[in-house]
Amino acid sequence: MLNAASLYDRVRRAVPPIEWATFVDDIDAILALKRERNAVILAHNYQTPEIFHCVADIVGDSLALARKAMTVEADVIVLAGVHFMAETAKLLNPGKTVLIPDLGAGCSLADSITAQDVRLMREHHPGVPIITYVNTSAAVKAQSDICCTSGNALAVVKSLGVPRVIMLPDEYLARNIAAQTDVEIIAWKGHCEVHERFSVADIRELREAHPGLTVLAHPECPPEVVAEADFAGSTAAMSDYVGHHKPARVVLMTECSMSDNIAVEHPEVEFVRPCNLCPHMKRITLANIREALEKNRHVVTIAEEVAAGARRAVERMLAI
Ligand code: 13P
Ligand code: SF4
Repeated sequence: MLNAASLYDRVRRAVPPIEWATFVDDIDAILALKRERNAVILAHNYQTPEIFHCVADIVGDSLALARKAMTVEADVIVLAGVHFMAETAKLLNPGKTVLIPDLGAGCSLADSITAQDVRLMREHHPGVPIITYVNTSAAVKAQSDICCTSGNALAVVKSLGVPRVIMLPDEYLARNIAAQTDVEIIAWKGHCEVHERFSVADIRELREAHPGLTVLAHPECPPEVVAEADFAGSTAAMSDYVGHHKPARVVLMTECSMSDNIAVEHPEVEFVRPCNLCPHMKRITLANIREALEKNRHVVTIAEEVAAGARRAVERMLAI
């Protein structure tokens, strides 16, 4: 049977022994609680290595977590990620108890727009389809025609077969996608507080300091940063890039834990790690995952009046 002692090898390269000693008790308790409660843990790629590699059952980017949430058969889903991810899991698998270990795990993009803003955009642009990024509340999704993630945004835009679309709320994602298509994209002014901080000067300095560096960027970065990178893609696409290309030296212009998690699996790749922390993702810890399972909290609920519309937008995306 899995226990903490048998798991240390997975994270040896990312977690020093002294730190590991503080995790053992919570990891053993969580493994036991998952069995007792028939629970699974879905963890986003930005979760810390001891969560990502030691207690999670399913890991991935927002798109993969949404797809996999749909087919979970366990009674309880603990979402080690941010609130919109937990809401998406609940929308797609409404019969399950979905728990988020900290209700404060939000997202600057989700906070940048309300359902009323989306209604106003529709009034200003009648007949133009509205695509909302999954990094939004269920109430915002419910006002939109279809959702997208960073992993499928271009495919979603193309699937609509129209000359103009509205893409909310991430301005940079919208502009990065607009650079790859003739479809006109009307954007909003939302930004990710983590990715907006990367600059072209950062990349140039890194390339000078680390010759031969391969630069990967998330499409929530400003367009000039994406243009300066060697590759841009979702967190899963960046992970796949490292797996397939095995660059000698790589930097991921994204949240810190991504590099830690991938580096564990690719000892042959040198990771340069200037990174920005997502304060929302970092609210999730082993201690509050344990507490979530022990105390059955915080249960994610979605108001009836928004659930059907939000589900329709997410399911339409997943059908592409
Ligand atoms: P991904 O869908 O690429 O995992 O991104 C989610 C996110 O919140 C990035 O900041
Ligand atoms: Fe939101 Fe940015 Fe954090 Fe992702 S990294 S959850 S987009 S604030």
